[in-house]
Amino acid sequence: MAVAAATRIAVVVVAALAALAPGARGLRRDDFPVGFLFGAATSAYQIEGAYLDDNKGLNNWDVFTHTQAGRISDRRNGDVADDHYHRYTEDVEILHNLGVNSYRFSISWARILPRGRFGGVNSAGIAFYNRLIDALLQKGIQPFVTLNHFDIPQELEIRYGGWLGAGIREEFGYYSDVCFKAFGDRVRFWTTFNEPNLITKFQFMLGAYPPNRCSPPFGCCNSGDSRREPYTAAHNILLSHAAAVHNYKTNYQAKQGGSIGIVVAMKWYEPLTNSTEDVRAARRALAFEVDWFLDPIFFGEYPREMREILSSNLPKFTPEEKKLLQNKVDFIGINQYTAIYAKDCIYSPCALNTYEGNALVYTTGVRNGAKIGKPTAFSTYFVVPESIESAVMYVNGRYKDTTIYITENGYSQHSDTNMEDLINDVERVNYLQGYLKYLSSAVRKGANVGGYFMWSLIDNFEWVFGYTIKFGLYHVDFDTQERIPKMSAKWYRDFLTGSNVTDDTQVRSRRADS
Ligand code: NOJ
Repeated sequence: MAVAAATRIAVVVVAALAALAPGARGLRRDDFPVGFLFGAATSAYQIEGAYLDDNKGLNNWDVFTHTQAGRISDRRNGDVADDHYHRYTEDVEILHNLGVNSYRFSISWARILPRGRFGGVNSAGIAFYNRLIDALLQKGIQPFVTLNHFDIPQELEIRYGGWLGAGIREEFGYYSDVCFKAFGDRVRFWTTFNEPNLITKFQFMLGAYPPNRCSPPFGCCNSGDSRREPYTAAHNILLSHAAAVHNYKTNYQAKQGGSIGIVVAMKWYEPLTNSTEDVRAARRALAFEVDWFLDPIFFGEYPREMREILSSNLPKFTPEEKKLLQNKVDFIGINQYTAIYAKDCIYSPCALNTYEGNALVYTTGVRNGAKIGKPTAFSTYFVVPESIESAVMYVNGRYKDTTIYITENGYSQHSDTNMEDLINDVERVNYLQGYLKYLSSAVRKGANVGGYFMWSLIDNFEWVFGYTIKFGLYHVDFDTQERIPKMSAKWYRDFLTGSNVTDDTQVRSRRADS
């Protein structure tokens, strides 16, 4: 981008920040506990690029985006993405300028083990993450590392059908051990899986993510069983998680001093009406979303609602597996973006071919013609700041004060928005301050929250939406790879460095003012 244009944008951003209403009660960093982690998040496939560099193996997303480009909104892929693999020093600098004390990123399994256990460890891959971790630590930024954020080596996709085959458990055990050994001396925060509760549905129920398996009424894939396979895959993920946690706790934790957890996606479900049926539907949707993974980890059993509805489609844990699972986690990560209305489908008929269909729940963002919150670029994500407080209080209560990290929270824009509005992202600033305000309220009510990560540090490859949706605090010009701070990046930095910011008065756009 031309320097003149960048300067013009900077002027617009400064002017818009100046429009923040003075004197309003401020949300402050010290509304959160000492030692609280404030960070930004990314994932390997979404930002790294360098998909063939330095002996990296192909992963399932490399292959999927190349062979089935038509399933991606803009037919693009992560071959280059943000070219973070080559630009990580610049990205660490950006993090440093933001003033965050932690950075959540994931490791590309195929960069470390190009063919899983069927080949060797790629020393160049190890070296890359060593450089990244060291660069972060030099700036006082704690690495918060995800072992699996959707991508797996293609070799394992072929051999095991991805998470569907029990053989992949051993693979994850080996991979996680390689990572603990290589990086654990410096990594204090590990998460085994990112959103396994979402990915298993997108892979095996809706058939949208590789290996694209599903059955009617959820979709028409070449093969699959939407009523059974998501639960088989989830079972394998849970047991992989449990074995990795057990290994970490037995062989590494004492000498390395880190902690380990898992990250789940968590919508907040509001009953569509105050009928008992809808109230139960909202509860049931949550059980099929969050308790599905956390109950086995904490109580050794899938939730009652799931056992009742899914019966033999839901696998069972053996007594040994229950014991292994109850090895517990040190923390729970939740990716929290939105709330949605839940309507019962047991007593009244409705379409069941959706994300919550297996729970016999229908969801909608609209009640009596009114949306639950302002819409975002994601059609099912609305701005509902109080949902973060409800979600945190629920998890805090059910899982007995285990430390919670908000591992993702963020606002999406359409990429075809004009440049000035992309950068002058007033809506994202309002989103951020709204959600942080309700998070601080949960903290005041006694919830054990350890940190908050914005999704995302930089605009990136948004899975099947390609580059058409932008979540970044930094705009990325994908032709030049220039990173440009949006208004939200400046807001976050000011918040983190202790400048006062408004929360009662929403930021008005400069355009609206002029
Ligand atoms: C969930 C996922 O973890 C991340 O990969 C994705 O880009 C964001 N949330 C936004 O959809």
